Amino acid sequence: MLAPAPIQAKASSSATELYLNQARASGSTEDCMALYEKWAASYDDEVGDSAQNYVAPVLVAQAAIKYGLSHGATNSVILDAGCGTGLVGVALAMAQAKAIDGIDLSPAMLSIARKTGIYRDLTVADMNRPIDKSDGTYDLVSCVGTFTLGHVGPNPALRELVRVTKHNGLVVSTILEDIWVPGGFKAEVEKLVAEGLVKVVTDELIDYVKGHGDKAVLLILEKIDRD
Ligand SMILES: C[S@@+](CC[C@H](N)C(=O)[O-])C[C@H]1O[C@@H](n2cnc3c(N)ncnc32)[C@H](O)[C@@H]1O
Repeated sequence: MLAPAPIQAKASSSATELYLNQARASGSTEDCMALYEKWAASYDDEVGDSAQNYVAPVLVAQAAIKYGLSHGATNSVILDAGCGTGLVGVALAMAQAKAIDGIDLSPAMLSIARKTGIYRDLTVADMNRPIDKSDGTYDLVSCVGTFTLGHVGPNPALRELVRVTKHNGLVVSTILEDIWVPGGFKAEVEKLVAEGLVKVVTDELIDYVKGHGDKAVLLILEKIDRD
């Protein structure tokens, strides 16, 4: 299920918001990929400028370090899901993890991520489908900026991120505030909790694309050790 795209992306006040609004208005996975193929080369500059001030990658990496990576970080193996150009991987590298893998829909975004030199492995993947990774592979899975309008829906993605996480490991993600309830994310989390798969460490609201005034839910799930 693709995250809903109500096409009423906020009115663009600058050229740099154009791609952001188009991305959120994607009506299909193919449209979304085509958009990021065009956006990749200028993405880092645009989301980093003061008009957008995309603070989520750094805030999420800080939360990941605080909640999960502060002890034994050098042994941690991380999956950065929807890694894009690698902003989260670069921020997570501060934790000196053992290895960071990335998956993303867009080959052009991945090729920028490859240039960071941070990632061990980078693979094209559609997160609206099952993820081609084994159960319990990662100590921590990050997913930042990808649970947003017109991108990736809650099902099967949230369950898949939990599946590839080790017992007692963390899924650390952002979900655009506008789709947390209407997009079915909160309900899917409640289902995973009711099934005894995860516990919610936090679902607090944080700044996201700060220049745009957007907030996101910082969702941290801990996979329950059922053995
Ligand atoms: C706003 S960017 C966020 C990238 C990076 N995590 C960051 O914070 O800068 C959203 C990313 O989601 C990816 N994406 C969109 N739909 C996807 C899908 N169905 N499966 C995997 N990745 C997807 C895009 O290619 C893009 O790189």
